[in-house]
Amino acid sequence: MGFFGRRKPLDAQHSVHHDQRLQRTLSWPHLVALGIGAIIGTGIYTLTGIGAERAGPAVVLAFAACGILCVFAALTYTEMATLVPAAGSAYTYTYSVLGEVLGWLVGWSLVLEYAVTCAAVAVGWSGYAVGLLQAAGIHLPAWMIAGPHAGGIVNLPAVLITLAVTALLARGARESATLNIVLVAIKLVALAVFVGLAAPAVVPENYTPFMPYGFTSHTVDGHVRGVMAAAAIVFFAFFGFDAVSTSAEEVKNPTRDLTIGIIGSMVICTVIYMLVAACAVGAWPFAEFAASGEPLAFILRGLGHPGAAFGIGAAAIIALPSVILVMMFGQTRVFFVMARDGLLPRSLSRLDAQRRGPVKLTLIVGAFVSIVAGFFRLDQIAELSNAGTLTAFIAVSVCVMVLRRTRPDLPRLFRCPAVWLVAPLAVIGCLYFMISLPMGTLIRFAIWNLIGLAIYFAYGRRRSLLAQAEGN
Ligand code: ALA
Repeated sequence: MGFFGRRKPLDAQHSVHHDQRLQRTLSWPHLVALGIGAIIGTGIYTLTGIGAERAGPAVVLAFAACGILCVFAALTYTEMATLVPAAGSAYTYTYSVLGEVLGWLVGWSLVLEYAVTCAAVAVGWSGYAVGLLQAAGIHLPAWMIAGPHAGGIVNLPAVLITLAVTALLARGARESATLNIVLVAIKLVALAVFVGLAAPAVVPENYTPFMPYGFTSHTVDGHVRGVMAAAAIVFFAFFGFDAVSTSAEEVKNPTRDLTIGIIGSMVICTVIYMLVAACAVGAWPFAEFAASGEPLAFILRGLGHPGAAFGIGAAAIIALPSVILVMMFGQTRVFFVMARDGLLPRSLSRLDAQRRGPVKLTLIVGAFVSIVAGFFRLDQIAELSNAGTLTAFIAVSVCVMVLRRTRPDLPRLFRCPAVWLVAPLAVIGCLYFMISLPMGTLIRFAIWNLIGLAIYFAYGRRRSLLAQAEGN
């Protein structure tokens, strides 16, 4: 047992009892769809506006910076995902390589990355749903379309979409993954239509000044500004590719399927984002769409395409739930493995006899997400998700480097190229993104981790499977 606690054996999967093994039913087309399903969502559809407010037209650079960082992170993620094709993603890797305490903390951060992300996407969905209803002449009362922070009581549309997705997921992952493919197609067509209509309207004046607030994150009149301040929030638009690796235990051919699934889906998304952002800020003055809850529809309406604006709103409404679905899937799998390891109550790792999935866990996660979605502010929850995700990325890159030193013998089905350059750059980049977040977010993140540590020392430290095996 090292300084950071016990380590879960890298091949611990083989000792899992048959009843607690997930079925291998997925292959790479499912994973690319799962990846794109998780990646493209509220980030590009909604946070583009907040990003533009923080960076001006240079929000395009913010998307590029995120894309570069995520390519590095994806490369290290893929090495770990193929080396340890077990459910649980960064949590499982960190537990095995860096020990139980850090593993638990990373698992705890993944709650931000997955569950809180679901909530942020649900709020983004609500923005488009309310906008679409208003365009159709239906005005919902203010109390039911925003939380207390915006003068309402509860964001009811966000709660309802969360509960609907929870019900779908509880019916079985396979079914949901197939539906996901259709939703991904809708999402891609909508963004293509946006680019097709906005690109001809791009005027050079909208790009000047290109970088009104400079590059680094800083505060202007109480608001964070700068390209990195934008990057720290639109980063949200990029993650999701790692949701693919959380399903590793359910993949038929881990090497081929995960490599194509993770890297392929992320590269496609990076290209799409840069295009959409460049068209958005080029076609319409950013200051005018920045505050909109549905910026892409807003721009299309402004350009005189109300029908297309309606269409993109409808596409967002139909397709954004796929992001919630994939992220919620990821969260249930991470909790499932944590419960199977004894760090959470083991009863949660029981699979439903009919569905072969963790139904009880899915319902608990769904309830948590709907509360966050109903009452919290979009930018703040998105930033908190980012802090959790950056933590997970750092942990994975460190794990890859440690294992290259301590276990050079392990067969690596996918080797991260130039690992001693890529992995340290991923760590440094994530730290830079982290300190570019607003101070309030960093304080909330610190509090979240303290709560996590308290739970670990009160429960998991003694109850974990490894602790019991040691006879503690
Ligand atoms: N990347 C996902 C989104 O933008 C979480 O909604």
